[in-house]
Amino acid sequence: MPPVQDTQFFIGLMSGTSTDGADGVIAAFSANKKRPEVLAQASLPMPPALKTLFLELNATGHNELEKSCLAANELAHLYARVCQLLLSRAGLAPEQVTAIGAHGQTVRHRPDLGYTIQLNSPALLAELGQIAVVSDFRSRDVAAGGQGAPLVPAFHEALFGTQKPLTVLNLGGMANISILHPEKEVSGFDTGPANVLMDLWCKQHTGQEFDQNGQWGKSGTVNEALLHFMLSTEPWFRQPPPKSTGRDLFNQQWLNSMLSAFDHEVAPQDIQATLRALTAQTISDAIHAYAPETREVIACGGGALNSRLLRELAERVNCPVSSCEDYGIACQSMEALAFAWLAWAHCHRHPAGTPSVSGARHKTILGAYYPA
Ligand SMILES: Nc1ncnc2c1ncn2[C@@H]1O[C@H](COP(=O)(O)OP(=O)(O)OP(=O)(O)O)[C@@H](O)[C@H]1O
Ligand SMILES: [Mg+2]
Repeated sequence: MPPVQDTQFFIGLMSGTSTDGADGVIAAFSANKKRPEVLAQASLPMPPALKTLFLELNATGHNELEKSCLAANELAHLYARVCQLLLSRAGLAPEQVTAIGAHGQTVRHRPDLGYTIQLNSPALLAELGQIAVVSDFRSRDVAAGGQGAPLVPAFHEALFGTQKPLTVLNLGGMANISILHPEKEVSGFDTGPANVLMDLWCKQHTGQEFDQNGQWGKSGTVNEALLHFMLSTEPWFRQPPPKSTGRDLFNQQWLNSMLSAFDHEVAPQDIQATLRALTAQTISDAIHAYAPETREVIACGGGALNSRLLRELAERVNCPVSSCEDYGIACQSMEALAFAWLAWAHCHRHPAGTPSVSGARHKTILGAYYPA
């Protein structure tokens, strides 16, 4: 492990359940500053063939061991290209960076069975980038009996503090909340789908990967009966925290089975509007039940760019809904910054595994270290 200096640079890389791409940040961590300073950000789209492969690997299939390794290697090449962009934008050399925190691509998340898989090739990334890599952040918490997710609440607490009751909401493929409160331990959990179902439906009907600014869904009307049917049919929504979810549950099959069981004709745009309402409703239900004192919801992740979704949520909670952009952090950079922080935490032997969030038996130091 390198000696600790006053200012250290870390890279964070995130490729989430939306499988839309890899987001990265490079940030300066100073001993005398509470918040890391973002020096540069960069994103690259997931190559379509790699996206298809990852989606295929979410379920059991032919030759999946080899396919997983090859997909992981390709992801490392994508990550390395994001790192190059970050270094050139920040004007830094690889040897100035203490470590990269690289999440990998989740293809299975089964803490109930004792495992979670983020495909990644940290050794190859260390080789390509000539920078140390910290990866596999979730397994240690799962080994301690936790959900291994969400990992970001401890980071949100470090970033925003706990001066007033706040909820930080990440709108990626799935939605997760971090509940910050001056008198309580940080908590947080997944609330269900954020964009994943809307993305699937949008792709099926418009050919677009996602509904830009929620434009297509805006033309539809929420079907209250379908919304109620989905909320009451899916038992996961009623499960108390700690809980986490992924494409293992909320996927094309889930959507198909809900729509066919509903047995009423609903126009495609109305289904899109209803899926948006499902996201807003499950988040607001979670906030009402577990964070009723929240005075502000700070939204981040790609879904925070969907203004209609944020409005829908604001109508359902009793406080303002802002975006992390109001705090100087781009929506798509927040999760990447969290993984830079998790790499920093690993290198400083800071236990970022938080039992009050994940349900683990004890705190753990997250991640595995691959020297440059
Ligand atoms: N301009 C936009 N308008 C509406 N939705 C958007 C926009 N940009 C991105 N999105 C949505 O955000 C999604 C990607 O968000 P993000 O990268 O934060 O999620 P993710 O990759 O699943 O990450 P994570 O799992 O870490 O939360 C896209 O799939 C899309 O649904
Ligand atoms: Mg993404």
